[in-house]
Parts: sequence; structure tokens; C-alpha cells
Amino acid sequence: MTSETNNWSKSSWKEFTAHQQPNWPDEAAVNKVLNELKTLPPLVFAGEIRSLKALLAKAVTGDAFLLQGGDCSENFSHVTAPRIRETLKVLLQMAVTLTYAGGVPVIKVGRIAGQFAKPRSSDTETIGDLTLPSYRGDMVNAAEPSLEARLPNPKRMLKGYNMAASTLNLLRAFTRGGFAALHRVQAWNQEFVLQSPMGLTYERMAGQIDQAIRFMETIGISMDTPQINQAQVFTSHEALLLSYEQALTRIDSTTGDCYDCSAHLLWIGERTRQIDGAHVEFLRGVLNPIGVKVGPDYDLDNIKQLVEVLNPENEPGRLTLITRFGKDRIEKMLPPLLREMKREGRHIVWSCDPMHANTITAAGGRKTRSFSDILSEVTSFFETHWAEDTVPGGVHFELTGENVTECIGGARDIEDKDLDINYETTCDPRLNAEQSLEVSFQIAEMIRS
Ligand code: PEP
Ligand code: CO
Repeated sequence: MTSETNNWSKSSWKEFTAHQQPNWPDEAAVNKVLNELKTLPPLVFAGEIRSLKALLAKAVTGDAFLLQGGDCSENFSHVTAPRIRETLKVLLQMAVTLTYAGGVPVIKVGRIAGQFAKPRSSDTETIGDLTLPSYRGDMVNAAEPSLEARLPNPKRMLKGYNMAASTLNLLRAFTRGGFAALHRVQAWNQEFVLQSPMGLTYERMAGQIDQAIRFMETIGISMDTPQINQAQVFTSHEALLLSYEQALTRIDSTTGDCYDCSAHLLWIGERTRQIDGAHVEFLRGVLNPIGVKVGPDYDLDNIKQLVEVLNPENEPGRLTLITRFGKDRIEKMLPPLLREMKREGRHIVWSCDPMHANTITAAGGRKTRSFSDILSEVTSFFETHWAEDTVPGGVHFELTGENVTECIGGARDIEDKDLDINYETTCDPRLNAEQSLEVSFQIAEMIRS
């Protein structure tokens, strides 16, 4: 059976090679967990997934813009109200700035409520003279460098489900309950502008957004309408652990279609997008919007096939290609892809991940990314799309609302030597709250002019 046939079922991926799966030591224990997961309620609902797809269809034509962001890897110990609130806050703040500058709705998608499983470049990791199974995310094992901690434990999938449920519960409460009200988010932006060493640069736009809000109030637009005092935030994660995703895949009773109800949007990572692989097979059959990461060594024919397999009907909003080429290669690698997809008339949301091909090792050995490299890739992304007359549809960041020191640069000019001050990530380095807002103000200036 090949993935070109329509012969799909929730478990047809098992007939294909699944890369990056944990070596669970006890299969019976895994099946017990999966059976329990199958009976638990869906985390998100088909109707919400369809709304996201409809919004993403607008991002294909430039009538909406996708903002996707959150941790590289969520940690169970970080599932707390303050941390969820801070991540949400920074996403909302970025969205207001981008909405004002771009003049189109911003679709807010968190890497949140389920981003618990990570692909790794090697099955093992050697620390000192200890060789351990690699850390594969909290839904598989623990990051501590000991044999016990690194043993994959399927009960972690259940815990991951519960952590995702409580995160979503809080997100829903925050976004409906007044926390996301426009004037409040804008007041936070003004606070940021006041505190940032680069504040003067951002002050003008923040002032204009204030004026726009006051104008709406003046002409009598009620600040109590849902459009003004609520926000819609969607969830996403890399669909890596296929047995978990299968267990959360449900048939929508209103349409008879299959949706992966572990999150609204699922993406396939750069390491698992083999055309004849299990991840592509699984995701081609669920009706969620799907993202695919595309790195600088892509093969054009391979991407064309992938697009055909994942979106044979060319449905707008179904497929987001998240390019992550690195600041030095984007200008060479993006145009051929854009031209070919345009020539074929493919409906694609083009999103830019300026993080994953700009990772470097700092002097002290820490993995980091430079703020200016990130900005450089984003800038090239917009400029290339404008030059090719295609639509830059969105951006994808690893970020946190916390005051971490993981990426160098930005207005506070975090240096290599500062990385140890507050380096928390168990996977890739994230922009902190200030750096995230700076990026959004910089993009805003760029798209407005
Ligand atoms: C990620 O998004 O954390 C990731 C692993 O990305 P990629 O698949 O693009 O390397
Ligand atoms: Co990452």
C-alpha cells in the first residue's frame, strides 16, 4: 500500500516506517495507556478546527496573517497559571501590533497545550562517561541525565494529555474572561515601550494604536463586544508520537470525518516528512490544518509530491509550509519553491520559522540564536515574497513570556556570557518576552511601509 492510495485508516501509518518514535520498554503498558486515551474526551473540537482552517484559507491570499509561537518543548513542571498567562500575554501583544500594521486579522496559534514530544538527532546522548537514551520530551521521558529518568514511560502520555487539558482550560478562560481585551493588551505594549532600551523606536506605532482604539471608543464602538474584549487562540504541536495522535483522533459525528483532536493544527517536522513515512501517512487522513517544516536541503520534486499527498484537493487553509532555511540560505532556497508552487497553482500558507536553521553554539557551549539572525531571516522572507509576488502568510517563533536569557542580542544586548543567568529551555533557545515584542514591532514597521 502506498500513501497515494486512498486506503487510509487511523492505524494505516503502522504499515510505514515511523521515525523518531521512543523505544518503549513495555508494549503492554503502552497499549494500556493508549486504550485509556482512546476513551478520554477530545481536547479540541472539530468545529474549532474547521474555523481555524477557514481563517488559514484567508492567510493564503493575504487576508489574514498567521502568528504561531511558544516553547520549543513544553515541560510538565512549567504548566502553571503564571507561565501560561505570560505566554498568552506575549502572543496577544504581538498580535495587536501585527494586526494594526498589517491591516488584517492575526490568527493566533500557540505551540502550547501538547508540545511535549521532540525529535532528536541521535537515539543516545553521552554525558561524561555515561551514555543515556536521548531526552525526547516530557511525554516520553525526563530531561535529568540519569538512566531511570531517561527510560521512556508511557504513563507520561496520559500525563501529557492531562497537562494539555488543564492548559487549554486556562487558555479558554483567559481568552474569554476579559484578560485579552484590546485596551488591556495595548496597555501592556505601552509598558513594554516605556521599559525597552529601544522604546523610542517603538513609541510612535504604539501611540498610533492607542489613537485607533480611542477613535473606536469615541465613535461609540462598545468595548464590551467579543471582537474587542475576547480573543481566539488555537493550539498546535508537532505530531510526532503517532500512537498518541491516533488515540486522540476522532470521527466528527456531524460529518463522519476524522479529526486529530489533540490540537487544532498539527505539523510534521523536518526530520519526519518522508513521503513514504508514517507521519505523512497519518496526517494525510485527518482533516486538520497541517503544517510541514521545510529545511534548506529540500528536494523540489519531493516537496511537490508531499503537497499533492497532503492536500490533493488543493484546499486553501489545509496546508502551511513552514520554511526554515537560515539567514544565509533563504534568499537562494525560497524563490524556486515559491515559483514552482505558484506555477502549479497550489494554495499554500507560507510561514517563516527563523529559529531552527539559525541555531549556533555560544562560547560557553550553550545552544543559542542571535536576535539579528532571526530578524534577518524574517526580513528576507518578506522581501523574497514581495519580489516573487507571492504572499508571506505568517511567522513561527520559539518564544516564552518569561524573562529568560537563551537568545543573544535584542535591545538589552544579551551576550554569550549572559546566557547562564536564566537559561531554562530543555530543548531549543527561545526569544524572551521583550525580544518577542521587539520582533513583532520590527515586522510591523516592515509590513506597514
Ligand atoms: C521544532 O519546531 O521544534 C523543530 C524540531 O523543528 P524542525 O522540525 O524544523 O527542526
Ligand atoms: Co525547536
